[in-house]
Amino acid sequence: MTKPRRSANWYGKLDKDGFIHRSWMKNQGFPDQAFDGRPVIGICNTWSELTPCNSGLRTLAEGVKRGVWEAGGFPVEFPVTSLGETQMKPTAMLFRNLLAMDVEECIRAYGIDGVVLLGGCDKTTPGQLMGAASVDLPTIVVSSGPMLNGKFRGHDIGSGTDVWKFSEAVRAGEMTLQDFMAAESGMSRSAGVCMTMGTASTMSSLVEAMGLSLPTNGALPAVDARRMALAHLTGKRIVEMVEEDLLLSKVLTRASFENAILANAAVGGSTNAVVHLLAIAGRVGVNLTLDDIEIGAEIPLLVNCMPSGKYLMEDFAYAGGVPAVLAELKGHLRKANTVLGRDISAYAEGAECFNRDVIHAFDAPVKPAAGLRVLRGNLAPDGAIVKPSAATDALLEHEGPAHVFENIEDLKANVDRDDLPVTPDTILVLKGCGPKGYPGMPEVGNMPIPKVLVQQGVRDMVRVSDGRMSGTAYGTVVLHVSPEAQAGGPLALVKTGDRIRLSASRGELTLLVPDDELAARRAAWRPDAPRYDRGYARLYVDHVLQADKGADLDFLVGKDTRLVTRESH
Ligand code: FES
Repeated sequence: MTKPRRSANWYGKLDKDGFIHRSWMKNQGFPDQAFDGRPVIGICNTWSELTPCNSGLRTLAEGVKRGVWEAGGFPVEFPVTSLGETQMKPTAMLFRNLLAMDVEECIRAYGIDGVVLLGGCDKTTPGQLMGAASVDLPTIVVSSGPMLNGKFRGHDIGSGTDVWKFSEAVRAGEMTLQDFMAAESGMSRSAGVCMTMGTASTMSSLVEAMGLSLPTNGALPAVDARRMALAHLTGKRIVEMVEEDLLLSKVLTRASFENAILANAAVGGSTNAVVHLLAIAGRVGVNLTLDDIEIGAEIPLLVNCMPSGKYLMEDFAYAGGVPAVLAELKGHLRKANTVLGRDISAYAEGAECFNRDVIHAFDAPVKPAAGLRVLRGNLAPDGAIVKPSAATDALLEHEGPAHVFENIEDLKANVDRDDLPVTPDTILVLKGCGPKGYPGMPEVGNMPIPKVLVQQGVRDMVRVSDGRMSGTAYGTVVLHVSPEAQAGGPLALVKTGDRIRLSASRGELTLLVPDDELAARRAAWRPDAPRYDRGYARLYVDHVLQADKGADLDFLVGKDTRLVTRESH
């Protein structure tokens, strides 16, 4: 016997409740047939003019609807909180869990049988997946897709990555402010997400590698007509998934998370993928830990895209995209179910690489052993991470004196001082940027190189913080130090002049200060006063987990798949 549809509890009732659920929906012109028991498909849309990266999602939603109708389903689009990475203060990450709550409660409260998640900008994909995972209906993703390549003075320029470079060039007196302003118009030329391998394109690529979307979702440009066709086919497929009862938890398995970690190394993906994967895993009960990130440590960098390489997402798509990468990873991928109901290897069937300078072969990589490294030691007892593919090799093994910025205001006020006592060997330390500290764990870990060093030609140095960095950023940057300073982690105790040792090869981050001295500093330490005492930010600070646990809210971990049976009338 086939499983009764969830939506029947709304639209299948022949009583007052059914009348109310159907009648009000009919004010949109839906005929009786829409309520004849066919699968009701929710299209969860993060479109917003304040999230420019997701501005194409309204169009894609229409594509999904075509496919749903064609397959005999009933599509209903609904909005959820949208998170514009470049527009929100203090940081969109503060609101990722709010989006997840919104998505979870909307899916649970409405009479839908399956969900299509339309997201793209950095936090929208993980926030939607976290929420959907906690309800566990058949679920599939369509991503915004990247913008076309940026153009400036005859050259390609990449979102984010070139912003940091231009900004440093202006500070060094090598670029005029006029050119700087002109570059911003050429950088963002179409709808879509950042066209570097930033967090958005990392997450859409990982979604594909996890089998949560149809093949090619990861890289196709936002404005490529084939993405609209992909949306259409996704609409058809979600109806079939409902018929097959292919729940999200049947795709979000430990094997699919391991494939995401492998793929993240191969594409040179964002460090932010770590907190997002840990948080999503927590929702479905997959016991993924920070140490599991090392599964990808020996995987070489295959995709030559900024910030780890030189090309952009448009080039990656035309070179073969994620299917061509999965073909290279063949011997390493775990067997894992997908939204197709087939093993992930099906995504690589027939895949070809059309440009070996963009997607390298496994045995001729851009860089060997490029996966993220987990660091531990007395400075990060619960771990920290570094991205070797975006770092300076020589700095990955380094010991030097710390220069400490107590918080972001201290950094901004002092980093460009002419008398800042730093050398290229100095390790910059930034506190107060973790989940509780900022709050929200912003992307400030790739702190600017002090002006006195920029003027000497220094472009990279070791930086250590409890914050994150943009997926489009680069440098020898140690991130996500846990526990964070505001939670009383040892980072809070570092003083200017202390020596710190980083060894990426040994996975070590050590503060070279005697234990008795650290104990004395701890006795005198007090956390900063909370910056928010009400509203969502207060809820967040009171309940957020540390970065090594995914920075989810403690009471949102896990799922509740029960049907809500009480009515409002
Ligand atoms: Fe939205 Fe980069 S800022 S994807």
